[in-house]
This record gives sequence, structure tokens and C-alpha cells, in this order.
Amino acid sequence: MAVANRKPACTSVVNVCPNMLYSFQNKARAKQGPACRLTLYWGKTHKELDAAAHKKGNDMKTPIETTAGTNIETKRLWIRRFHPADWRDLYEYLSQEAVVKFEPYEVFTETAGRQEAERRSKDNSYWAVCLKDGGKLIGNLYLAKQDFGTWELGYVFNEKYQGKGYATEAGLALLDDVFRNQHARRVIALCNPLNEPSWKLLERLGFRREGHLLKNIYFKKDKDGEPIWADTFEYAILGEEWAAQQPYRAPQS
Ligand SMILES: CC(C)(COP(=O)(O)OP(=O)(O)OC[C@H]1O[C@@H](n2cnc3c(N)ncnc32)[C@H](O)[C@@H]1OP(=O)(O)O)[C@@H](O)C(=O)NCCC(=O)NCCS
Repeated sequence: MAVANRKPACTSVVNVCPNMLYSFQNKARAKQGPACRLTLYWGKTHKELDAAAHKKGNDMKTPIETTAGTNIETKRLWIRRFHPADWRDLYEYLSQEAVVKFEPYEVFTETAGRQEAERRSKDNSYWAVCLKDGGKLIGNLYLAKQDFGTWELGYVFNEKYQGKGYATEAGLALLDDVFRNQHARRVIALCNPLNEPSWKLLERLGFRREGHLLKNIYFKKDKDGEPIWADTFEYAILGEEWAAQQPYRAPQS
């Protein structure tokens, strides 16, 4: 039976910001069993939720506002297309050693940063993640369509803005958009097992680890010019898994 059709053993209702999703899920499941389904809403008061549920007859509700894949608004962020004028903020984080450590490129020069912002402004796979408060570009998501209804997710955030839940908040919103509006069947992501913040983020977003490839790739070479072989964790989430994990439904009577 499809996961999405399985009847939940219990339902909990919480009003929660998306970053807390994972811990809420774990806490509820620990308390009520693995089949527990959480009903999650964020950015709204219970009064607003009750009024909306009453008005819509308990239909599916969208937790974030999207504008058909162009701009996505979350509680703290705008997620939008890149502009050439983004180069300063882009260069700020692509020139950080810690940020490019697991990326297939070295730190950017200012010239390369300008060119990259220009290039990304013409590439719909890149999403600029900006603070609503002040508009600063703090990182980017990457979401590119592959064959068989599969999309690949990537992400890079300015180290000054890590550890604040922004990547989770942006990732949840973009996944919601791609499953809901682009009808994605499956989203995958790849990362180096040594990049713990990366796979922890994927697990917060609800991805499953599907594989551990041994020494399958290299991005960098050592001082003797020899490849530095790296392992890869493969992660994925299916549309039905997303739907089961994100049941933005008012409680059924
Ligand atoms: C991968 C990457 C995006 C993860 O960023 P991150 O800051 O760890 O992820 P989030 O923004 O979701 O923040 C989550 C952390 O913020 C904490 N946090 C603090 N305030 C928070 C808040 N208000 N809401 C939610 N979480 C909050 C969480 O507890 C969590 O910390 P933990 O990992 O110690 O448990 C980031 O490390 C990065 O850009 N790395 C460099 C590029 C890279 O390697 N990309 C991946 C290549 S595969």
C-alpha cells in the first residue's frame, strides 16, 4: 500500500515553524508510535488556522505562499531567481573556504563571483535565498530536473548564516513547491559522508539515505596532483513520502 494512503494510527496537531519539524516528528513518534501522523502548520495563529479550516471545510491548506515557481515566501525568507546584481553577496560566501570545502570548485575570485551571478541569473536551477529582513542574499538552493520525474537538490549557505535553520526553512519550501507545482516524482541529493551538516539537513528535510558509494568521486587533487577520492551518500524522497510527512490538513473530525 502506498505510504500516502496508509491510515495514521493517531494525529497530533502542532503549530510549528518548519525548522522544528524533524524534532517534533521524532518526539511525537517516540510518544505515540511510529505510525503517528503530525499535522503541521506554521506562521499562523491557531485562531487563523481554525478560521481557515472552517472556511475551507478542512481541505488541504498550503503552509507557504508560492507564485507558480517564481518567488517563494517563508516565515523569514524570500526564495527567488538570481540577478546579476547579487554578485557581492554571492561572492561573499563563495569566497569562504569552509563553504566550498565539499564543493567541486575552489574559492571564487571577485571576477568569478560577478560572472557566476550573471550566469545564475539565466539558469532557473539556481534559487537565491534572501532574508526578508533587509533582503540580504544568504545562500542558494539548486534544484534541477532530470529524467523520470526526478529532481536533484543542492544547497550552499554563507557560513555567517548557518546554524540558524535557514537552509531547512528554504529547503522545505522549495520541496513543497516542486512536489506541489512541478509534480516531481522523486527528489535526490548527494553528499560527502564527512559533510555532516549536509546530510543532517537532508534528514531534517525528510530524505532517506539510499546508498553509500565508496571512493566513487573526486573534486580535488592533493599536492602531488593525485585525486582525493571521496565517498558519496545518496539520499532521496518520493512524492508520496513527502505527502505522508507533510500532511498539511486540518484535523479530521
Ligand atoms: C549544508 C548547509 C547548508 C547546512 O546548513 P545548516 O546551517 O547546518 O542548516 P540549517 O540552516 O537548517 O540550520 C540547522 C541548524 O541550526 C540550528 N538552529 C538554530 N536556530 C534555529 C532556528 N531558529 N530554527 C531552526 N534551527 C535552528 C539547528 O539546531 C541546527 O543545528 P544542528 O545541526 O547543530 O542541530 C551548510 O552547512 C553549508 O552551506 N555548507 C557549505 C556548502 C555545502 O557543503 N553544501 C552541501 C554540499 S553536498
